[in-house]
Amino acid sequence: MTTKIPVNSGRSSWSPILLVVLMTLAPMTLAVTTVPVLGQQGAPREATFTKDIAPILQRSCENCHRANGVAPMALSTYEDVRPWVAAIKRKTTLREMPPWFIEKNIGIQRFKNDPSLSDEEIAMVANWVNAGAPRGNPADMPPPRQYADGTGWTIGTPDLIVSTPVLTVKARGADWHGEIGPVLTGLTEDRYVQAVEIKEVRLDGAEKITRLAGQAGDLNYFAVHHAGLHEVDPNDPDVYQTSSNGMANGYYIVYELGQNATVYPDDTGVRLRGGSAFIYTMHLHPVGKELPVRVDAAFKFHPKGWKPKYLQAGFLTMGQLRDELDIPANTDNVRFDNFYRMPKAGIMTSFEPHMHASGKRMCAEAIYPDGGREMLSCAGYNHNWVKVYDYEDDVAPLLPAGTLVHVIGWYNNTPSNPRVVDPRNWKGWGNRSIDDMFHFQPRITFLTDEQFKEKVAERDAKKRATRTTTQANN
Ligand code: HEC
Repeated sequence: MTTKIPVNSGRSSWSPILLVVLMTLAPMTLAVTTVPVLGQQGAPREATFTKDIAPILQRSCENCHRANGVAPMALSTYEDVRPWVAAIKRKTTLREMPPWFIEKNIGIQRFKNDPSLSDEEIAMVANWVNAGAPRGNPADMPPPRQYADGTGWTIGTPDLIVSTPVLTVKARGADWHGEIGPVLTGLTEDRYVQAVEIKEVRLDGAEKITRLAGQAGDLNYFAVHHAGLHEVDPNDPDVYQTSSNGMANGYYIVYELGQNATVYPDDTGVRLRGGSAFIYTMHLHPVGKELPVRVDAAFKFHPKGWKPKYLQAGFLTMGQLRDELDIPANTDNVRFDNFYRMPKAGIMTSFEPHMHASGKRMCAEAIYPDGGREMLSCAGYNHNWVKVYDYEDDVAPLLPAGTLVHVIGWYNNTPSNPRVVDPRNWKGWGNRSIDDMFHFQPRITFLTDEQFKEKVAERDAKKRATRTTTQANN
């Protein structure tokens, strides 16, 4: 069966228009989790590992930093952690760990499965390290966190896992773009996806990320740099033509290196069909040693018979720039802007910058048809960790038809960006990870005008209800 889906064929048809908008942003209350650590009588006491630090590591780090995790070292016990305290202070203070780069001082602040540390927690970690990283009372140690299975899926035990065949990535060579599949999903009836988590599985026996010395550009944590999953009907040859355009009927998602799970909104149906298969558009990147890898996609479904209120398909690339990218050598903060006009009303359910090696930061702003503007979100960018940020359902931007989504991207092509191979070079658009991209690819639920009005009314009612409760409490 010939299945020719040129990589990026879907994307190139998204004209450089951009998009997004938001309408009723819930108030950006950032619940400040206090951490001036107070003892029993309210007197300040010293933070300790067992009482104060271990709970943070369990919540925000252990998912990767544990025996079976991808990170090089476990951070579960005091003995694990002690040799790393200086690095932990540095990585948390710079907000490089955990990998989650939403800026805390601008835009919407409530996201699903947000592992980030509050400013207070970061300060506490730093103070604890400065004070000599005391262990504290062993009796204060929280019980070890339990993981449902050895695999560490963050979405819980999956209902379905679909695996690619094993691919061998050469030790050295050019990035490889190509297609594999179809791979049958094994699903026998249509189901709605509640959450999906996709990951690279290394089959080299070590399974941990090991970065080898002497590799140009610090882009070698992962060998699978992207894997697009395009749902197809294996019996219908035509479906191959439609599946790659991202907003077709079929399920579509692009996993990017270092990505976290996607959790879809509660009332929104994203369908995976019975009898379906996936064609994968792959981008592999040699990491310095020959590596057998596989891509596993884990799905959690809504119960059988569950009826969605809205439907969503794939994600949308807004405001892509290609040949316009013109990044001078040795220059930081090179900025580009682009726009996408919402053809219909919609809900932007996630925020997802996609750049490449020189990418530094991306923001999305909504410019409403009435001229009002609102910054939706800004996030730093590190092309080893291409994160998807799922808004909490009640703050996901509501964008009326005609809203302009203004996307702004910044690039750092200087030696201070370790991912750039050689900043003496000019840089521009390209598919290789060492080149650059400008994509904003949020998930959007398009709505009819009727549905949009209803949604706005729902949010307003909720806000009024919250205000009333607050007043009643005062
Ligand atoms: C999504 C997975 C993930 C999470 C969550 C995560 N890390 Fe990491 N961490 C890694 C990986 C992979 C590396 C190795 C690559 C690198 O150096 O960045 C790493 C590296 C580090 C290093 C640097 C080690 C060195 O060689 O200097 C420190 C320190 C660290 N992590 C601390 C933390 C702390 C503290 C947290 C939680 C607050 C955390 N990490 C959360 C995956 C993760």
